[in-house]
Amino acid sequence: MGDTLLDVEDLHVEFRTRAGVVRAVDGLSLSVGAGEVLGVVGESGSGKSVSMYSVMGLVRDPNATIRGVARFEGQDLLTLSDDRMRAIRGRRIAMIFQDPMTALTPVYTVGWQIVEQLRAHTSMTKREARSRAVELLGEVGIPEPARRVDNYPHEFSGGMRQRAMIAMALACEPTLLIADEPTTALDVTTQAQILDLMRRLMAQHGSSVILITHDMGVISEMADRVVVMYAGRAVEEGPRRDLLRQAQHPYTWGLLGAVPRMDGRRRRLVTIPGSSVSPLDMPPGCAFAPRCAFRMPVCDSRPELEGPPGHRSACWIPMEDRPARRAEATEGAAGGTEGFAASAGAGGAS
Ligand SMILES: Nc1ncnc2c1ncn2[C@@H]1O[C@H](COP(=O)(O)OP(=O)(O)OP(=O)(O)O)[C@@H](O)[C@H]1O
Ligand SMILES: [Mg+2]
Repeated sequence: MGDTLLDVEDLHVEFRTRAGVVRAVDGLSLSVGAGEVLGVVGESGSGKSVSMYSVMGLVRDPNATIRGVARFEGQDLLTLSDDRMRAIRGRRIAMIFQDPMTALTPVYTVGWQIVEQLRAHTSMTKREARSRAVELLGEVGIPEPARRVDNYPHEFSGGMRQRAMIAMALACEPTLLIADEPTTALDVTTQAQILDLMRRLMAQHGSSVILITHDMGVISEMADRVVVMYAGRAVEEGPRRDLLRQAQHPYTWGLLGAVPRMDGRRRRLVTIPGSSVSPLDMPPGCAFAPRCAFRMPVCDSRPELEGPPGHRSACWIPMEDRPARRAEATEGAAGGTEGFAASAGAGGAS
């Protein structure tokens, strides 16, 4: 792996609400190397989107407090002025949002929006930008792009809107692409095309990708490294292969073990028993402890990410006991971790 492109350190994001303080992100650290695909998994509400919005300077809520460091190409994004952040956003770092309408404005045509994006960040003429917009729409699989370029977002289907947003994100060939559930609304064929497109972007420009997904199939096809998030923190982090074959954290065991085995590669994370902690009432210790089958008294204090360099986890179970606990946790599960190990071994095949 090359140099570190983005280095997020001890990120905290809190929202003051009427019900109390919501700790959406609670000490998250992660890094992405040049040309690397970092997969981010974790259940709904674990802070995946909010952490990436914060890094992009897109948390607009006046009740939000953001602390920490997000170093990108030598500068801390969290301290940049709006102007400087705007210059980076779109050009150096682009985001594919979970909800396409976050990126698309209803009052302008799709083409206009892509053209603006290109013109703001490159020296293209209007005509060049327009023909590039048509080309991009074609690349993401919009039929008749030369005609569709003049449509408004509401004239697109949900899946087409998502593809249009992806075209917009890829327009300026960003150094870092943050993709938040980029393919969930798409059918399997389009999904494969989009993942392919992202791969091509990386290959051509050496771009890095942060890929947020619930789909372990996508992780096993795309990710070089994986971060597992729980309650606003990273609970495990490691190379894809190690993480799928030798997961170290009870929450990850739950994620991997609870997935029914299927023949295809589309395996989705399912909910594991018990409910997540409330971000209004975060326990001081391990946030997973209330749901953990291996809870011990020590879990009342917070475990740090530890372990061999490269594959770390935040858990009090002694390292030497992990294999036995893992076997116990995944035993009898419909799939076990074997199915993932198989796809992890297949590595990057498309
Ligand atoms: N503006 C806000 N005010 C208060 N709470 C917020 C705000 N934005 C997000 N949250 C809370 O922050 C937590 C993390 O939300 P986030 O959207 O990052 O989850 P996520 O991991 O992306 O989930 P999903 O998989 O469903 O997209 C949630 O509990 C959410 O309700
Ligand atoms: Mg989200």
